[in-house]
Amino acid sequence: MTQTINVGIVGFGWMGQVHAKALTRVRQHYPDLGATPRLVGVADPATDGRLDYARDVFGVGWTTPDWTELVVRDDIDLVCVAGPNFTHRDVAVAAAGAGKHIWVEKPAGRNLAETQQIADAISAAGVASAVGFNYRNAPAVELARDLVAAGRIGDVRHVRVQLLGDYCAHPEGALTWRFVRDLAGSGVVGDLASHGLDLAQYVVGPIGALLAETSTFIPERPAAVGTSSHFARGGDGPLLRVENEDYVMTLLRFRNGGRGVLEASRASVGEQNSYAFEVHGSTGSLAWDFRRMGELRECLDQDYQGASWTVHRIGPGDGEAAAFQPDTAIPLSFDDLKVIEAKRLLTSIVTGKPEGATIADMVTAAQLADAVLRSDAEKRWITL
Ligand SMILES: NC(=O)c1ccc[n+]([C@@H]2O[C@H](COP(=O)([O-])OP(=O)(O)OC[C@H]3O[C@@H](n4cnc5c(N)ncnc54)[C@H](O)[C@@H]3O)[C@@H](O)[C@H]2O)c1
Repeated sequence: MTQTINVGIVGFGWMGQVHAKALTRVRQHYPDLGATPRLVGVADPATDGRLDYARDVFGVGWTTPDWTELVVRDDIDLVCVAGPNFTHRDVAVAAAGAGKHIWVEKPAGRNLAETQQIADAISAAGVASAVGFNYRNAPAVELARDLVAAGRIGDVRHVRVQLLGDYCAHPEGALTWRFVRDLAGSGVVGDLASHGLDLAQYVVGPIGALLAETSTFIPERPAAVGTSSHFARGGDGPLLRVENEDYVMTLLRFRNGGRGVLEASRASVGEQNSYAFEVHGSTGSLAWDFRRMGELRECLDQDYQGASWTVHRIGPGDGEAAAFQPDTAIPLSFDDLKVIEAKRLLTSIVTGKPEGATIADMVTAAQLADAVLRSDAEKRWITL
């Protein structure tokens, strides 16, 4: 017996399409899942043919430029909230209020208050939720978490987390919604550091205090022309002010006594999706890099000095890898992480028990992001 879950997607850009692909594929990887998603509708005001793509390629029956029509439709059970950040709160609160389950992209709200409003609406409606903390779903990350929890590296001493990108490194990169505080909220703190803060807590444990400083390397950018993606160049018009940060450095104190550093940048020349962490313990260490998805580097079970690293190649026994490939050293992709996210959300809907990262985890990350911004503004440690 499988339950049909009718899905509406708000925002059919990069993430909206990744959600659509994940939902299309999820039962191919998890045939015994008790739910079958069906793409019903897409809401997006773009006029560049992406709604035709949704209809012609994904078989979506109904499209609209207006998300307010989508969230109240009786034939939709689950709403993917995948538009720009300034749409998330209104879409998610309205959809949850109409009794829909919610899959919302990070950073959910533009700030802590909005993220909390989304969480409150989800809680009041009693619906299921998933959030876009996809890197948690990597089998190597889950293995690292298990090894830390099992005490295999001893006591956690220090942690290094980095999220470096170059998608805003070009000084002529268009001033899209991402650089405007009213539209995006924070800059790299919400966009990338939120992933790192979540990963650090997922693998190591709760963060108790932090000290942060931000910087905006490129203070002005040319205005966007039309619907500009992440990576578009601006026009010839006047330069406009960038209202949020390109870079953040953060010192972390974990509640288990560990110390950490987290660095995130959207404007690092030579770095693309360079998302990685190292966890150093009293008897061993672990390291993961998103760009080497099929590997966890381990330094375990040796003497204190002169110990060497080995590469654990991810195989069917690790995390959810068996749902994707039957052999070792065939890495999962970014889109596969979203299939796992979809599977966990659909399982939550069917069982009524939360599985995977939920809106509660996003509220925790938003509390940390808010503390990062307050620490930067007030030039002091913030205790959580
Ligand atoms: N989880 C991740 O790793 C990850 C990666 C990238 C982006 N994101 C998040 O996903 C969200 C979308 O980012 P993206 O990169 O897909 O952006 P995008 O620009 O590729 O897509 C956004 C889409 O929303 C549409 N849109 C704009 N206004 C709208 C409105 N009022 N109603 C409905 N649709 C509207 C746009 O036309 C576009 O199709 C952001 O919140 C971003 O932070 C998450």
